[in-house]
Amino acid sequence: MGLDDLLKGVQTIAVICNQWGDTGKGKFSDYFASQWADVTARGTGGNNAGHTVVVNRKEKIFHLIPAGISNDSNGQFTILGNGMVIDLPVLSHELDELDSEEITYNNLLISKDASIIMPYHVNRDKVKHQSQKDGGIGSTGRGIGPSYTDKVARRGIIIEDLFDRDRLSRKIEKVREVYSEQTINADEIIDSLMPFANRIKPFVRDTVSEMHRFMREGKKVLLEGAQGLLLSIEHGTYPYVTSSDCSLNGTASGVGLSAKMIDLPLGIVKFPFMTRVGAGPFPTEFGGRSSESYCAEEGHTNSDELKHYGITHRIVNGKIRYDRNDPKIIEMINSGDEFTQGIGIRLTAGEYGATTGRPRRTGWTDGVVARYAVGINGPLLVLTKPDSLAGAKEFKLGYGYKFEGRVVDAFSKSEGFLRNVTPQYQSYEGYGDISKVRHYDNLPSSLRQAIEDFESFTGGRVAIVSVGADREETVVR
Ligand code: IMO
Ligand code: MG
Repeated sequence: MGLDDLLKGVQTIAVICNQWGDTGKGKFSDYFASQWADVTARGTGGNNAGHTVVVNRKEKIFHLIPAGISNDSNGQFTILGNGMVIDLPVLSHELDELDSEEITYNNLLISKDASIIMPYHVNRDKVKHQSQKDGGIGSTGRGIGPSYTDKVARRGIIIEDLFDRDRLSRKIEKVREVYSEQTINADEIIDSLMPFANRIKPFVRDTVSEMHRFMREGKKVLLEGAQGLLLSIEHGTYPYVTSSDCSLNGTASGVGLSAKMIDLPLGIVKFPFMTRVGAGPFPTEFGGRSSESYCAEEGHTNSDELKHYGITHRIVNGKIRYDRNDPKIIEMINSGDEFTQGIGIRLTAGEYGATTGRPRRTGWTDGVVARYAVGINGPLLVLTKPDSLAGAKEFKLGYGYKFEGRVVDAFSKSEGFLRNVTPQYQSYEGYGDISKVRHYDNLPSSLRQAIEDFESFTGGRVAIVSVGADREETVVR
């Protein structure tokens, strides 16, 4: 089967993450936006997301605006949906960046119903979750939680409020007591927001009715998920989650559609290793609890770890450059010590937060988690980053857990369960460079075997395997 077969009769695609975020939504959003979509829309989260897109070896990171914006000049629409939380200065900054790269945004549509991340939300989030070590969940500190809290408490400020000064002022006055630890001056806040409000005004629409019109007109619609299923407020490892439902359901609802209307929901799975950033249970983590607390400490950024392990690197235009296959890194990924192996995989795969620069915790891909995700987001899977493991002598996949002396293959999000399970692994032979592979049958046989075992365990069906960050580095099965 090729891409044409996969896309036959498809009007709607959703690219969503089946793990704890950072699985390559940016790459696949760009992949379909650049060659297929008429409309790209995001329905959940805010600038807690960091979506990395690589075009012609050049990296772009998006936080709020979907990757599809690069196709604006071809008349493609880009929507920031009703389910999102929007930080106005951040949005304005992203528009500046587009200006500086000469990317147009004439067809950008911003939902009048999206929630606003107010300055007091950011302040509250920073204070509350500053330290993951003190039991905080390690949020990105972007005000996501407080903004959604106000939304659910029915006191949130939405985009449309920006254009009625009296109403805005009344609404801010109402939340003053909720944020009593801060000095809130409604007039000052409004004055500070007005330049941003005026800037986005031409793009503000009822995006739900626009979306329905696009659907009626038969336009091809791509939904760009944010975060991941295991971070969903509804289905994730609560309370170590974000504050939106980033499942297929939430993603569709966040742009005014039903999950039922999504023809091709693609759940992304990082494979055969996975990551998590921030606090919370992660059964297959290399080095377990010691890795979790190590990653929560300051001082383990990419450059810190490169320095610490004596790996040659240099800074070019503010970005760190190093050989991801440096012999020292390869030695680490083959280390008998799991903790070191985990750092080696972080280094070889470049797993540092696109939003916060924090080291991402690493572990083998967990089939139990994937099986749970298939149950909610559906069976179609995209595997990403197997190329990053080139040079590992062996790799493993988790099939089932041992819990209280029994083997279980069903996921439960209870912390007491996830913290006390012992994953059951199967080992496979490692492989070398696969970035040039374009046909499934040319993937190394151990990797294909692993994929097929993974499919039978999870009930999923792998439609695409990514073999590199670039658009072209993609194998459609
Ligand atoms: P993308 O879209 C990975 C995590 C944070 C924290 C928890 C709550 O790039 O995959 P929040 O700031 O949302 O209140 O933080 O969720 N988190 C993410 N982890 N990828 C993301 O987005 C994330 N967005 C939030 O690290 O543990
Ligand atoms: Mg990310």
